[in-house]
Amino acid sequence: MRHLMNPLDFSVEELDRLFDLANEIEKNPAKYAHVCDGKILATCFYEPSTRTRLSFESAMTRLGGRVIGFADANSSSAAKGESVSDTIRVISCYADICAMRHPKEGAPMVASEKSRIPVINAGDGGHYHPTQTLTDLLTIRSLKGHLDGFTIGLCGDLKFGRTVHSLINALVRYPGTRFIFISPEELKVPDYITEMLREKNVPYEEVIRLENVMPQLDMLYMTRVQKERFFNEEDYVRLKDFYVLDTAKMELAREDMLVLHPLPRVNEISVEVDDDPRAAYFRQAQYGVYVRMALIMTLLGLAS
Ligand code: CP
Repeated sequence: MRHLMNPLDFSVEELDRLFDLANEIEKNPAKYAHVCDGKILATCFYEPSTRTRLSFESAMTRLGGRVIGFADANSSSAAKGESVSDTIRVISCYADICAMRHPKEGAPMVASEKSRIPVINAGDGGHYHPTQTLTDLLTIRSLKGHLDGFTIGLCGDLKFGRTVHSLINALVRYPGTRFIFISPEELKVPDYITEMLREKNVPYEEVIRLENVMPQLDMLYMTRVQKERFFNEEDYVRLKDFYVLDTAKMELAREDMLVLHPLPRVNEISVEVDDDPRAAYFRQAQYGVYVRMALIMTLLGLAS
């Protein structure tokens, strides 16, 4: 039995097979419409979500399976003090696979240690969000044809953004990757990540002004300032609109640069950018369904 806690739980070769399957599902969804007949996915979300929970539910439904779960810790027995270890032991009696989001870093890992079914980390605190990373990689591979040799700008909240931490970890395995981290001083990428990049000799630079680096980028990954992880409102209000990507800034970018965003967006991408053909964030959300379909099949041993 396999779980997914961290994007690195799959080798590059396994990811290639997963993405091939996701692209195959995209081309021929009818072929996969009954692959999970009789199977049940549990979505245990202790933190708010639109995309991750609903794309998991859409994925399982499109595979012919069914879904149970909760979208709010207060509507589960966590509100009465039940531990995630006990909850997953019980969910193991009801479902064949579980996607869990939790505000505490490591909670899905604790659950996986007591589980009799595959557990997927659907985001744990500011730590990792591996299925978002699978979505991001599939989007890049599908739209660009490969995953190596890119200069990627990551912009916004690089301190608390778990999607950023996961994506950096995954992309360092592809040769020729170069990172440009664009953030205010207070939201810089954590030291453990820059130390890891230095150890692996992966080139990176840290800058504050987005405009200065736009022409160099193959991809710009915008992020929301994570209000829910700030300790005080004053800091959040000061930093929340530090970056706003608009059409004027897009004029500085290459014709083939992709704009990605895990969503939800607040103000960091102006809606006027949505019509730019380089804006890929809604296509990215669609790829999130295909990759979760492929992941469910893989973890249930149905992907032969
Ligand atoms: N990208 C993402 O994780 O979105 P949700 O928080 O809506 O699931």
